[in-house]
Amino acid sequence: MNVSLKTQILPAGEAAVAAAARSLAEGGLVAFPTETVYGLGADAANPQAIARLYHAKGRPSFNPLIAHVRDIEAARAIARFDARAIALANAFWPGPLTLVLPKTGDCMVANLATAGLDTIAIRVPAHPLAQQILRAFGGPVVAPSANLSGHVSPTTAAHVQSDLAGRIDLIVDGGAVEVGVESTIIGCFDEAVLLRPGGVPRVEIERVLGRRLVQPPDDADNDAGRPLAPGMLASHYAPRTRVRLNAERIEAGEALLAFGSPAVPGVDAATAVMNLSAHGDLDEAAANLFGYLRALDARGARAIAVMPVPHRGLGEAINDRLRRAAIGRDEETQEKSKKQE
Ligand code: TXA
Ligand code: MG
Repeated sequence: MNVSLKTQILPAGEAAVAAAARSLAEGGLVAFPTETVYGLGADAANPQAIARLYHAKGRPSFNPLIAHVRDIEAARAIARFDARAIALANAFWPGPLTLVLPKTGDCMVANLATAGLDTIAIRVPAHPLAQQILRAFGGPVVAPSANLSGHVSPTTAAHVQSDLAGRIDLIVDGGAVEVGVESTIIGCFDEAVLLRPGGVPRVEIERVLGRRLVQPPDDADNDAGRPLAPGMLASHYAPRTRVRLNAERIEAGEALLAFGSPAVPGVDAATAVMNLSAHGDLDEAAANLFGYLRALDARGARAIAVMPVPHRGLGEAINDRLRRAAIGRDEETQEKSKKQE
């Protein structure tokens, strides 16, 4: 593919929405903000556009994409909803929840986007620009996070630009996103399975279901080639710098990613300090997470030391991404992830 495209960047507004819809209809690749992270959109019914999308991200085509639709009616044209799925959709859409459901017999989404599975991941994004683009375009739009495969997800248009400029057609700049971690993915199988913790906390989903979510098997058990959530491979969210978790002191040459009071031993010698949330707010921490990881990664520190983050609310998604960022520097894991992600 031509990887020296001229990537247009447009500020949010009517002209940008119209240009995005036009580009999607012509098979273009359009990055736009959702409330979670920026997505890289392509026409879900256009296999050539989807092939370009996989190529632009450097993503293996066995890792399926999420179809973004304007509302539950549009979702029901491509997936079969049972009562449980309808309850979840009514409770959380539009919003940061993705449901994995059986495809309908006449599902218009290209097989390439679902990696040949008989299920499809769907979400209705809440961001007004995402909604306007979906409505102007008319059909489902597949959109993975708008980063190079294996990199940290983008929470600003500048992040998208630094990963994908020259590889995609258009970036719609809607400023920084609100949530900051990707959507929660629920597999609606015999049991409801938490495939990826994300923007909707587990407890809120369990409250709607009236029962506990089932955990998927560990990544380690998913190597057979058909994991439940194919993209949830170990080093998915890796900065280049080594990440050291649960740091209780700062070693020489390390940068600190703090949470709450950064009064840890050695902090004065840290090469850089960024605080996810000085007053310990997990929503604020999620919104800052990927941007701060990118910023600290650019500082050339020996390692990024990360203070412990509580596991409640969005803390589960934050800790999931941090854990993947940390194992991303393990060489064996990197080899494995190169093959898979
Ligand atoms: O918040 C989000 O979900 C963002 C924004 C742009 O909407 N999108 C996003 O997409 O995070 P992506 O492609 O980075 O992650 C989608 C995940 C991958 O782990 C993929 O393997 C999984 O969803 N997935 C997609 N289809 C699936 C399916 N049929 N069964 C199981 N997992 C699936
Ligand atoms: Mg991603």
